Amino acid sequence: MIGAGWVGLVTAACFADLGHDVVVRDIVPERVADLQAGRVPIHEPGLPELLAQARDRLRFTLAMADLFAAARVAFVCVGTPPTYSGDADLSAVWHVLDELPDVDERALLVMKSTVPVGTGEKVRAALDARGLAHVGYVSNPEFLAEGTAVRDFQAPDRIVIGAFAESDADRVAALYAPIEAPIVRVDVASAEMIKLASNAFLATRISFINEIANVCEVTGADVEQVARGMGLDHRLGPHFLRAGIGFGGSCFPKDVQALKQLAGNSGYHFQLLNAVIEVNELQKRRVVGKLAKHLGELRGKTIALLGLSFKPNTNDMREASSLVLAARLLAEGATVRGWDPVSLEEAQALMQGVELCETVLTAVTGADAAVVVTEWPELRGLASSEVRAAMRNPLIVDGRNLLDPEEARAAGFTYEGIGRAGNDTPGAVETAEREPAA
Ligand SMILES: NC(=O)c1ccc[n+]([C@@H]2O[C@H](COP(=O)([O-])OP(=O)(O)OC[C@H]3O[C@@H](n4cnc5c(N)ncnc54)[C@H](O)[C@@H]3O)[C@@H](O)[C@H]2O)c1
Repeated sequence: MIGAGWVGLVTAACFADLGHDVVVRDIVPERVADLQAGRVPIHEPGLPELLAQARDRLRFTLAMADLFAAARVAFVCVGTPPTYSGDADLSAVWHVLDELPDVDERALLVMKSTVPVGTGEKVRAALDARGLAHVGYVSNPEFLAEGTAVRDFQAPDRIVIGAFAESDADRVAALYAPIEAPIVRVDVASAEMIKLASNAFLATRISFINEIANVCEVTGADVEQVARGMGLDHRLGPHFLRAGIGFGGSCFPKDVQALKQLAGNSGYHFQLLNAVIEVNELQKRRVVGKLAKHLGELRGKTIALLGLSFKPNTNDMREASSLVLAARLLAEGATVRGWDPVSLEEAQALMQGVELCETVLTAVTGADAAVVVTEWPELRGLASSEVRAAMRNPLIVDGRNLLDPEEARAAGFTYEGIGRAGNDTPGAVETAEREPAA
């Protein structure tokens, strides 16, 4: 496994669990040292247990030579972040190729990183030019979702394998043998496109339901009821119809951008994806509008952002909505507090100017508003009398529609969700009631 991030580590642990011997190589010495010492550098449910269980079949190293001394099949799991132009940055992938030792014909390179369509052809050409024509190349994109990554590996919807040679595809399929899932065998370019198109389509569903939510707000419908009614249609299905403050994370924003740029670079204007991206950007900012609707001027107000990771059950803060919200609110002159059960260390580096709090209660004490940014289960009980008493002004902006609006109102909060019928009008809770308890 080349790369010990979310994809590399989860894949390594799961393959080891299946009985394979796995060597994991990363270039960050602290990460490798942590893993060698049994410490898991990321928060992913089930991963520490699996790594511990399969310890005898796992090795961690900094040296590429170690990896190829032991391994026949090398999965490339390095990051492919966006560049300033929106294209995927493939420098880590090319670096791996530069470092590749003179391996023999048993070596097979498998791309798990998400890459633009055409990358496989280019890697193939680069291998050939380096005298490594005997090294096979396979595209095997990864579809795991952070927070459920182990389960996603063990029970995937499908395994996509794109190869130039059937025998190479057979070798990769064999590694997954104990897993029951349809194997989609395609050409390399199609495998690359399946990954990008899948993420772009999921992102499109999110932006679509968010726009429906915004229209619900101005027409009096309730997006939660609408989504339930839509999702029961077997042609639509219920997934990715949760209205909220938009998608973030290390994959959707960059993969949608990358597909848009890939199309653009090839002379095609991908109009729909432009809208998906724009809707998502605006959706995060609507929270600021909702706060201003109730609080007026935000300068001098204290806002608690609850949940900082881009989704629950991960400490990944890449492209998290909390970062955009915090920056906007700080620019408005608000005091911003942040709480998260697992991401405070990551937030420290990324959220300068934000007061990070160990507990929800500390974050909301004296606050003018609490914003549910990430739907951590811990926040289900947010509309409590304790929180109500602690806040200077009991306003909840529920960016994930996590709470029951009626329960929140009954507990004395002004409640504002996303696309929900009956969002409170400003001043719904009498000023006299807003005084914090002594
Ligand atoms: N995170 C996800 O949910 C997810 C899901 C599906 C696909 N992907 C894709 O998989 C790829 C990896 O994503 P991630 O989230 O695991 O990234 P990550 O940033 O968490 O991990 C990448 C790791 O690769 C290491 N690395 C960089 N260059 C290296 C080299 N030359 N040799 C060895 N290690 C090297 C880095 O130090 C880092 O630890 C990306 O292309 C991503 O788009 C990610």
